[in-house]
Amino acid sequence: KLPIIIDCDPGHDDALMLMLAFGSGMFDVRAVTTSAGNQTQEKTLANTLKILSLIGANVPVYRGSDTPFFRNLVIAEYVHGESGLHGVDFAEATFKAESIMAVEGIARILAESEEKITIVPTGPLTNIAAFLLAFPNLKHKIERISLMGGGIFRGNMTPLAEFNMYVDPEAASVVFKAGIPITMCGLDVTHKAVVYQKDIDLFRSIGNKTGAAAAGLLEFYSVFYRENRIELEGGAALHDPCAIAWLIDPGMFTSRACFVEVETKGELTSGATVVDFYNVMNRTPNAEVCYDINRENYIELLAAAIRNLP
Ligand code: BDR
Ligand code: CA
Repeated sequence: KLPIIIDCDPGHDDALMLMLAFGSGMFDVRAVTTSAGNQTQEKTLANTLKILSLIGANVPVYRGSDTPFFRNLVIAEYVHGESGLHGVDFAEATFKAESIMAVEGIARILAESEEKITIVPTGPLTNIAAFLLAFPNLKHKIERISLMGGGIFRGNMTPLAEFNMYVDPEAASVVFKAGIPITMCGLDVTHKAVVYQKDIDLFRSIGNKTGAAAAGLLEFYSVFYRENRIELEGGAALHDPCAIAWLIDPGMFTSRACFVEVETKGELTSGATVVDFYNVMNRTPNAEVCYDINRENYIELLAAAIRNLP
């Protein structure tokens, strides 16, 4: 099993990402840390504990930073609702977060691990960048960073900046400059990783409580996409599970090794990932940038994971 640490901000698609990570049976999840993004840190932490309790995944959870490095927090309540997981009433969590913070938790786990560990961030990159700056001596213990964020040709918060990058561009810049192999699942691929009503019905028909929660979440989540992303024809872009799916089956994706930097100062483009897709700068690639996915296989992978959970 591949050892991983997940850093997320649930968030509807983050919730599905956790279901895939645990239900696939492919990972040794050493910890889940929480970022402030889709909702405040308070809420993304509470949501993480509730989802993990629902799916019976009792792994250490560490609270992350409340705010980005230098900016005020921007949340995505317009997509994820007031709770961050609108659409499902989750039962109270059965366990609590660890007492130490995410950065310290990640450091301890990496220091004690005999194997290298892959980090899977699906929210703003504040915690991961803070860790890299605080513990440069442990960088070599990270195998890879497989993240959801950015885009080659588009954004969703501004015309060029995707939400996770937009919230904390300085942190994202630190991560892309770290010299660690990165897999980037940005909007180019995640807008092809679409779930339709028939897929939601499939998840519900599995008949367990995880399937019911997945369906309830996606039904609410789809409303935003139906109203605001008409080119998806009623479907919703299921972003975050892509970062896990690539680790399970990279062959499901089309990608290219590219040099990627994050714009932090641009007047119009702060938070944009600047992806040298045609290698015009002749720099050594730092990221495997995904831009297409076999959608049918993705849905099957998700359904199989949900079937394995309570
Ligand atoms: C990203 O932003 C969040 O709203 C989602 O959870 C995903 O991580 C998509 O831009
Ligand atoms: Ca997310």
